Amino acid sequence: MKNIVILISGRGSNMEAIVKACAAEGWPARIAAVISNRPEAGGLAFAQSHGIATAVVDHKPFGKGDAARAAFDAELQRVIDGFAPDLVVLAGFMRILTPGFTGHYAGRMLNIHPSLLPAFTGLHTHQRAIEAGCRVAGATVHFVTAELDHGPIVAQAVVPVLDGDDESALAARVLSHEHRMYPSAVRWFVEGRLVIDGARVRHRDGESQMFG
Ligand code: GAR
Repeated sequence: MKNIVILISGRGSNMEAIVKACAAEGWPARIAAVISNRPEAGGLAFAQSHGIATAVVDHKPFGKGDAARAAFDAELQRVIDGFAPDLVVLAGFMRILTPGFTGHYAGRMLNIHPSLLPAFTGLHTHQRAIEAGCRVAGATVHFVTAELDHGPIVAQAVVPVLDGDDESALAARVLSHEHRMYPSAVRWFVEGRLVIDGARVRHRDGESQMFG
C-alpha cells in the first residue's frame, strides 16, 4: 500500500477527484494526508469529512525572503515526511519551491499545471492563451524539478479555445479534463506503470498519455 500526501492551497477540486478515484477504483494506495499552506483552504473540510488527516503549515508567519522560504519548505518537508509518503501530489499548491525541497522528493512528486507546458508557465495561463490567439489550451501533469513548471511530462489534456471564451469559460473546460487526467496519472504512479526516461515519461503498457 503506497502513501499519498496531497498539498493544496485552495478549493481542492483536483484533490477531491483523486480521493474519490482512489476509493472507487481500489488503488494500491491510501491518501495519508492533505496539507495546506492556507488555513482557510476550502479543500480541508472535504478531506476531514472523508476521514483523511489534515495539516496546515501556514507560510505567512515565516515572512518574506530566501531564508523564510527555505525555513517554510523545511517545516513543510518535516510535516509531509511525518506521513511517510511514497508520492507527494501538488494539487493547486500555489508556492514556489526551493531546490532542496524539490530534490528531496525527486521522482516522487507530481504537479498539475493549467497549460500545455512548456507554454505558459506561471500564473494567468488561460488569459494568456486567449490573448495569444491559441486555438488549443489544456493542462499538464509532470514530475516536479527545481525549475518552476518544468520536469518530465506524464500526461497532457488538450481542449479547444472557442470564439468568445473568457478566462473562466476556458478554465472550467480545462478543469473538467484535469479531474480525469490527474487521478489517472496518480494511479499510474502508485501502480508502478511510469518510467522516467530523460525528459520523457513512458507508460509501461503503452497507455495513451494524452487526454481530451
Ligand atoms: C487547477 O486548475 C490547477 O491546474 C491549478 O490551480 C487549480 C487548482 O484547482 N494549478 C496551478 O495553477 C499551479 N501552478 P483546485 O484547487 O480546485 O484543484
